Amino acid sequence: MTNAAYFKVTEKTIADLIDMLGQSGVTADREKRAAYSIDETIPRFEREYVADAVCFPENTEQVSMVMKYANEHLIPVTPRGAGTGLSGGAVPSRGGIVMSMERMNAILEIDHANRTLTTEPGAVTAEVTKAAREHGMFYAGDPCSGDISFIGGNVAENAGGNKVIKYGATGAHVLGLEAVLPDGSVVMFGGKRRKDVTSYDFIHLIVGSEGTLGIVTKIILNLIPYPKCVTDLLVPMPSVEAAVKLVPLITTEGGVIPSSVEFMDRKSIRNVEDYTSLRIPHSDAAAFLIIQMDGMDRRQLWSDAERIGDLCVRNGAVEVFVAEDRNARDRVWRIRKLVAEEEWTNAMPILSKEDIVVPVSEISKFLDRLPEILARHRAICNAYGHIADGNIHITVFPDGIGEDENLHELAHPMRRELYAFVKELGGTLSGEHGVGLKRKQYTDIFLNEAQIELMKRVKAAFDPNNILNPDKLVP
Ligand code: LAC
Ligand code: ZN
Repeated sequence: MTNAAYFKVTEKTIADLIDMLGQSGVTADREKRAAYSIDETIPRFEREYVADAVCFPENTEQVSMVMKYANEHLIPVTPRGAGTGLSGGAVPSRGGIVMSMERMNAILEIDHANRTLTTEPGAVTAEVTKAAREHGMFYAGDPCSGDISFIGGNVAENAGGNKVIKYGATGAHVLGLEAVLPDGSVVMFGGKRRKDVTSYDFIHLIVGSEGTLGIVTKIILNLIPYPKCVTDLLVPMPSVEAAVKLVPLITTEGGVIPSSVEFMDRKSIRNVEDYTSLRIPHSDAAAFLIIQMDGMDRRQLWSDAERIGDLCVRNGAVEVFVAEDRNARDRVWRIRKLVAEEEWTNAMPILSKEDIVVPVSEISKFLDRLPEILARHRAICNAYGHIADGNIHITVFPDGIGEDENLHELAHPMRRELYAFVKELGGTLSGEHGVGLKRKQYTDIFLNEAQIELMKRVKAAFDPNNILNPDKLVP
């Protein structure tokens, strides 16, 4: 199935696409095609794969027409959101058509009685959050790239981010999806209802399927009341071990489900300081936590914050900075967001960016052994991320690797050893960045033959011609 003989996009194909989408709905311009063929994966897939055409549908009918056509003509289609992906999910590995969802960006409806927001996939996530907010409601999805990512991309990748510990990843907020299947048929899964056992749970099969099963054209999201009060604690810790140990205690002893618990190791903090003019107090501390709590009642939140602050101090916190007003809170989160931004902007050679997940009880073991594993591959790293979910991002840098050596080749054995260890700890390959092109060759470490076979059969059931986003996710 993966060796399907695709047909090339010809001038005739472009003319047919223009018939369907209009002149402005299709481009074969070289620079545009290149720009729409990469995402934010490091190292980039730049120039490696380039689409033959990019199309910009404006409605479900147009998506359906293009899919029907591509299916009949055996032309691969790669759906694309804002291109903020971190695994090459939107990279057209077989050329063909990139389908950008950017023109389908309308937030269609906010329904108070049903507490839902209905949107097209090309709406920017932050705009979705803002629209809900303007109606006094809360969309709780919060990926780090939310200011630029599209909600459709969040659905495709089941984006996680900062608030998963309390509110769940993107899929937890999805009540309904309209999708165009590879043969062009249009289906609606779920709707404005909170129960449904009438069929298989196709919503949560599509969510996180990296655009391999269908193209999402409409999304119905669950909204909740807007938490009126939010407090962030910025907590420098004397050791990584003390920081990790504190995480489950916030709930078991502190009696609070925090809305976020984020982790940054010393190197991450130092990188931010080097990259900006920011001076972070106690930046020599071994690790930092950001603990966020939210709620409706200010007094309740104060008392929670005080209790969790005490808990931090009893567990060795060097200090507890409390951020309540918007400005102070923004300053805290800016540090966290700069960790990823610095890596993206900085020209430092990077061996790999990882997105592994382990059970929270195993994080210490993982972080302890990590330097030893990396040293064997002449690498070092910084670690940060969504520690309450066991989801640690590590950015691996060469350490003693010659400039003429091939980083790509060296990353491979390093990853295999790292992943074998992650597996041993009961962990997995990716928590939120996805498998895409980047990690596909490693899924066999985590999935057995029966699982892989099942994935292939699901893919074939939806997409027998392997037209839709080939080479992604499915081994
Ligand atoms: C973050 C992105 C990289 O957590 O997932 O910053
Ligand atoms: Zn993340």
